[in-house]
Amino acid sequence: MKFFIDTANLAQITEANELGILDGVTTNPSLMAKEGIKGTEAVMKHYKDICDIVHAPVSAEVISTDFAGIVEEGKILAAIDSNIVVKVPMIKDGIKAIKWFTDNNIKTNCTLVFSAGQAILAAKAGATYVSPFIGRIDDGNWDGVELIGQISHIYKMQGFETQILAASIRTSLHIVRCAEVGADVCTCPLSSILGLLKHPLTDLGLAQFLSDAKSMQ
Ligand code: G3P
Repeated sequence: MKFFIDTANLAQITEANELGILDGVTTNPSLMAKEGIKGTEAVMKHYKDICDIVHAPVSAEVISTDFAGIVEEGKILAAIDSNIVVKVPMIKDGIKAIKWFTDNNIKTNCTLVFSAGQAILAAKAGATYVSPFIGRIDDGNWDGVELIGQISHIYKMQGFETQILAASIRTSLHIVRCAEVGADVCTCPLSSILGLLKHPLTDLGLAQFLSDAKSMQ
């Protein structure tokens, strides 16, 4: 399973990248706004800055909702760097645009996916990635990880090549459970990635080893 970081924060992207286990980055307009980025030029520069840190797929989201607008915006985003993946919402014109991008060799990430039916449509249009939002599904008392498993089963049965990118990850356990049910990618906050390191027995064992080593000096 690949690890993407879900943030537009350059310090966090750098920290995750330096761990050596980062396979890409996802952003969305809310994450970009959180960084205080304003204006089209600043947005474009920020995507370029991310691409200069991580030489791997970087999802950049369109804000148009009509076919012509999505295609135009996607072409501009894709021209920023060869690693840009155009992130398109799961709406009717979005599906139409994803098919256009597929036919024109532009990689896509179909976002805001909350059902298996939506995931089938994204795959039919040739999306490179499909992003089910598992944390937001959990928020509504449904099981987000269960949806990842269902989509994984369907894609295997049908031979779809779209990669399942589990998004809206909130905890380290989400990452483990997504790995169990067949997610191709998890896009996570840095805190959830670093949370995977934690085990009290590791801390206790290391403290003991270090103290025993000191007693031998
Ligand atoms: O990748 C999608 C993600 O950014 C949404 O996360 O926590 O706002 O549901 P969240």
